[in-house]
Amino acid sequence: MSSTLRQRKRFTSIALPTAVLLVVGGAAAIQSVGPAAAAETTLRAAAANAGLFFGVAASPGRLSSIVAQEFNQLTPENDMKPATIATSSGGLQNTGNADTLVNYAQTNNMLVRGHTLVWHSQAGSLQGANQATLNTFIGNAINRWGNRIAYWDVVNEALDDNNTGNRRTQWPHTLNRDANGDGDFFDSGDTDVIRDSFIRAKQVVQAGGFSTKLCINDYDVEGLTVRGGTPNRKANALYDIVRTYRQYIDCVGFQAHFNDNPNSIISDDLQANIQRFADLGVEVHITELDIDDDLSNNDIGTGQAENYRKVVRACLNVSRCTGITVWGIADSESWRSSERGLLFTGSSGNYQKKAAYTAVLEELNRGRGGPTSSPTVSPSVSPSVSPSVSPSVSPSVSPSVSPSVSPSVSPNPNPGCSASVSLNAWTGGFVATVRVTAGSAPINGWNVRLTLPSGATVTNAWNANRSGNTGAVQFTNVSYNGRVNAGQSTEFGFQGTGTATGLSPVCTAS
Ligand code: G3I
Repeated sequence: MSSTLRQRKRFTSIALPTAVLLVVGGAAAIQSVGPAAAAETTLRAAAANAGLFFGVAASPGRLSSIVAQEFNQLTPENDMKPATIATSSGGLQNTGNADTLVNYAQTNNMLVRGHTLVWHSQAGSLQGANQATLNTFIGNAINRWGNRIAYWDVVNEALDDNNTGNRRTQWPHTLNRDANGDGDFFDSGDTDVIRDSFIRAKQVVQAGGFSTKLCINDYDVEGLTVRGGTPNRKANALYDIVRTYRQYIDCVGFQAHFNDNPNSIISDDLQANIQRFADLGVEVHITELDIDDDLSNNDIGTGQAENYRKVVRACLNVSRCTGITVWGIADSESWRSSERGLLFTGSSGNYQKKAAYTAVLEELNRGRGGPTSSPTVSPSVSPSVSPSVSPSVSPSVSPSVSPSVSPSVSPNPNPGCSASVSLNAWTGGFVATVRVTAGSAPINGWNVRLTLPSGATVTNAWNANRSGNTGAVQFTNVSYNGRVNAGQSTEFGFQGTGTATGLSPVCTAS
């Protein structure tokens, strides 16, 4: 038997405690219900043991028994889109299919993801509406299902294609106004359909006393980099949006439609990207997963099953990655059926598991502490947010690589600000998160200098302007994070190759 096979056999026979996913008021909690049991045989049970949901997109015509057997979360693939349920004045219509799906989910103890409220596509008679009408629709939709929907995709696909990092130019983004012309929509005088839609959604959730979480969802945002190592500007733009509107945004969806497009690859830095969003305190979900079974030019992995395994592992290794949803049951039913991207072949009543299914099940059964070849995980999470799925079950497998988080604060010659750095390192690379903290007075700008060890090279930075990529490097604030109130902090980050231990950042306020 090969060592790989031996290792797999060891993991598949590992005893894990049995747990169930409880749906209470729209939120999920993992509860241990008994002594250690054998590895689970369904995706939903294995996922629940690991402290996350495993879901599927479906329509009423696809609700065969396999849905409730294998999945504990359901996303209406098309039946909650504005084209189906919105009237031109923001009212609701044709909610029958959506109700069927929500009822099915409730009966079968599954979470529901509402998909989607504000989207440039499939907007139907809402197309071209103003913000007030969008707000009416947001209110009507959230209130209709209340706690029966655990997560809503409030804004879907707001960012442009081709890795520009820009917002889309189609409606509803035509509602945006950049008052001071600085290239973003984050300033107090700006109009931003993302901000305004989330503010409205948050008001409705709070007024209704719902536990529903509010998400932003996009594609080609999965890696820190795209093919060839170019920074993923779309991911960075999404990060800036979540960071800026963090008070309204609870969760981020990486659609994860992986294909041969240079921006849609599965990269080695997928986990690091999940981690940086998680470090903002939001839940991260893989929301529409399907993987072309012939990714000949993919960055990592060549087999579909191994690619699925890598995506599942990247999520499992980040505690705030609390759910994975595949975009359909079987290849034949997929929006991209020719790429055979799902976990089953066949069709309703006659589904057959693929190798990809087995890989996903194995990886879920390994739990959050399973082995990884990807970047290690920072255990630091902000205590202010409690994910609705809590990983309360400890896997009985220990991590093969221990986290290499090394916070360090340097002596600071300038009382105006200080900087500390936390490092997530793996063989050959790292992500550094730098926290800039104002002293006893507010600051209006900052400059952080540090010296990288020989052999370390910065490849990508976010939330800062950078000069230099080796040796002595410098980072300065961008337009929206220079002002920091007394005693408050802001963060920026950078990714690099090589090793970056022992960094001593020096902060100067301006
Ligand atoms: O139901 C009608 C049918 O009556 C009619 O005969 C047929 C003729 O074309 O159309 C059918 O509706 C189609 C619908 O899927 C149901 O199959 C629509 O034309 C078709 O446009 C629609 O495609 C959906 C697509 O979103 C629309 O943008 C896909 O099923 C759905 O998987 C896909 O999902 C999106 C996510 O919402 C957002 N992220 C990307 C993802 C994939 O494109």
